[in-house]
Amino acid sequence: MINFKNLSKQYQKDKPFAVDNLNLEVKKGEIFGFLGPNGAGKSTTINMLMGVLKPTSGSIIVDGHSVGEESMITKSMIGFVPDEPLFYERMTGLQHLSFICDVFNVDKSVRKERSDRLVKLFNLEKAISDRISSYSHGMKQKLGVISALIHEPKLLILDEPMVGLDPKASFILKDVMRRFCDKGGTVFFSTHVMEVAQNLCDSIAIINKGEIVLNTSLKDFNEKENASLENLFLELTGNEDLEAVVDEAML
Ligand SMILES: Nc1ncnc2c1ncn2[C@@H]1O[C@H](COP(=O)(O)OP(=O)(O)O)[C@@H](O)[C@H]1O
Ligand SMILES: [Mg+2]
Repeated sequence: MINFKNLSKQYQKDKPFAVDNLNLEVKKGEIFGFLGPNGAGKSTTINMLMGVLKPTSGSIIVDGHSVGEESMITKSMIGFVPDEPLFYERMTGLQHLSFICDVFNVDKSVRKERSDRLVKLFNLEKAISDRISSYSHGMKQKLGVISALIHEPKLLILDEPMVGLDPKASFILKDVMRRFCDKGGTVFFSTHVMEVAQNLCDSIAIINKGEIVLNTSLKDFNEKENASLENLFLELTGNEDLEAVVDEAML
């Protein structure tokens, strides 16, 4: 469903590559977790996948279409929840959803049913007629997820989606991601929370300093590795002696 080919991004000439020759394949119907510490290159990769950031070199193919050359087609297939969703805060939630439906050409006859269903699912009925400026971070996050689903995309991309969600909303979102895949959709999301990845994903990749250091199905990982994902993550991202660091700091 997604193919990243020799993808690189260097923001400034004298700076290290934020993404360095990344090669990955995300299969149709799976939940793919893109893991890495802060600053590893997750958002940079996702922004290139969304066509909002131009790669320095390399390419991305989504369902057979090139993000660089056919971005209108690839964008129309994708529902995207950025790490910090931006809204016209003077709009109400409903006005925003109507705006998104206009952008994605959602048929007028299905809009109300879809919007009612998703708003109810995320428990946003009371606030949906209020201005977005009155929403909490979590409420904006929920509205961002609803906006990403309302045009029924093939591919759902989420950048750190659990940040700021309360436990109930986070549970619902994980369930929605799973059901979305069961119905034939594909999910690609970034996180640095290992429990989420271990419980939810079919496949994972770990990125560190712009490079992929692990890419595996979770089934293979659980069969082969005699370690928790968290321990391996810390080891691969260069923090293997954290306990000693904590010991020293707490003396
Ligand atoms: N707009 C930018 N200009 C320059 N450097 C950037 C920019 N955005 C991100 N970076 C750098 O690129 C690297 C990867 O960042 P990012 O992709 O945001 O990481 P992550 O999402 O994994 O936390 C970091 O070193 C970050 O400082
Ligand atoms: Mg990020």
